[in-house]
Amino acid sequence: MTDKIRVLLTEEEVNARINEIASKINEDYAGRPVHLICILKGGVFFTCELAKRLTVPVSLDFMSVSSYGSGTKSSGVVKIIKDLDEPLEGKEVIIVEDIIDSGRTLAYLMEILKQRNPRSIELCTLLDKPERRVKKQVQVKYTCFTIPDEFVVGYGLDYDQKYRNLPYIGVVEQ
Ligand code: IMP
Ligand code: MG
Repeated sequence: MTDKIRVLLTEEEVNARINEIASKINEDYAGRPVHLICILKGGVFFTCELAKRLTVPVSLDFMSVSSYGSGTKSSGVVKIIKDLDEPLEGKEVIIVEDIIDSGRTLAYLMEILKQRNPRSIELCTLLDKPERRVKKQVQVKYTCFTIPDEFVVGYGLDYDQKYRNLPYIGVVEQ
């Protein structure tokens, strides 16, 4: 069965916005190296598109996490499936995520990663659903799009592991 998907943000809109965010990062870091941490799997498309547009020196690392808890509700306790390869000590870190929903995953992740003594640590997300936020302390420095409380797919985001490869962001219609 194929699901009906309504386009929320076209590929052109997403890419234009990533250009803007990349320019901001290039300005803010002004030639200083940034260490991008891609949160797998959802963050992978956004990380690549962002990294291609950065003119500051870039290094990349990957982390895969899953939240303990039943069904669709994340508990806030994060299990590390794949840890980083490199230490963070002294680095200017930017965590790159697909979407921030309740904020539970990132609140927990930020706590763990801050203990590894990066020089700085910021968050960059493709999408933000602020209406759903439970962890209000999560501060996002770079947000491409703020969206309403709808379940979205594409550009790395999945529905049951499907649709990550869509070049746009869409809503699965019931
Ligand atoms: P939270 O912020 O801890 O609630 O969880 C964020 C994670 O939930 C994201 O990294 C996604 O994997 C997943 N998620 C939340 N909303 C959506 C959505 O609309 N589509 C696809 N995945 C989502
Ligand atoms: Mg995710």
